[in-house]
Amino acid sequence: MAASVTLSRLVFSTATATTTATATASLLPPKTLPSKVSLRIPARRCPKPLRFSSSSISATIAVGDKLPEATFSYLDSEGEVQTTTVSELTKGKKAVLFAVPGAFTPTCSQKHVPGFVEKSGELRAKGVDTIACISVNDAFVMKAWKKDLKVNDEVLLLSDGNGTFTKAIGCELDLSDKPVGLGVRSRRYALLAQDGVVKLFNLEEGGAFTFSGAQDILDVL
Ligand SMILES: *[C@@H]1O[C@H](CO)[C@@H](O)[C@H](O)[C@H]1NC(C)=O
Repeated sequence: MAASVTLSRLVFSTATATTTATATASLLPPKTLPSKVSLRIPARRCPKPLRFSSSSISATIAVGDKLPEATFSYLDSEGEVQTTTVSELTKGKKAVLFAVPGAFTPTCSQKHVPGFVEKSGELRAKGVDTIACISVNDAFVMKAWKKDLKVNDEVLLLSDGNGTFTKAIGCELDLSDKPVGLGVRSRRYALLAQDGVVKLFNLEEGGAFTFSGAQDILDVL
């Protein structure tokens, strides 16, 4: 089953109306980069970072599908590499998996994880067993990002470094023509799975952050 959305423009930004010229942190092309890029996270807005064109976006996974098996890695508190699998995360469980185009990427991703951390108690109260963030980054970067965001165990930060899971669900995002060095990453999404079967799939346009937040999941629980 394929879900497909055709877009004239694929943007990293949110549709939030507060997107204004005051945006500082961005993935803009070099010529428009301010001399000092601020990574500060504005309280309630997600500045428009990167614009690029694409004729269509699509995913191969859809509501009703079983998630493909895949292995993720992470570093434990001792700094040892550990792995976990889609089935470990989802079998017999209610699981929320969400993805970002990259650890440390400005504003939107820097807000996505904290939103789930903040709502993790509410999600668990609604029966969610697993809350995990997936990114096409290596486990060392994910660990550093976890530390930077001061995340404990509210949300698992998992590495899909080779993009195997991301590709298996058709969510790869090719940013290889952008000068920031991201290469092929994951589109932003949030999904809810019950015993490994997708119940809700909020797939964003590129890295946009409009309806893949924790509250959007809470709203359907
Ligand atoms: C890594 O990705 C490549 C290309 O998508 C794939 O052929 C390969 O099987 C993957 N390796 C692992 C260990 O998943």
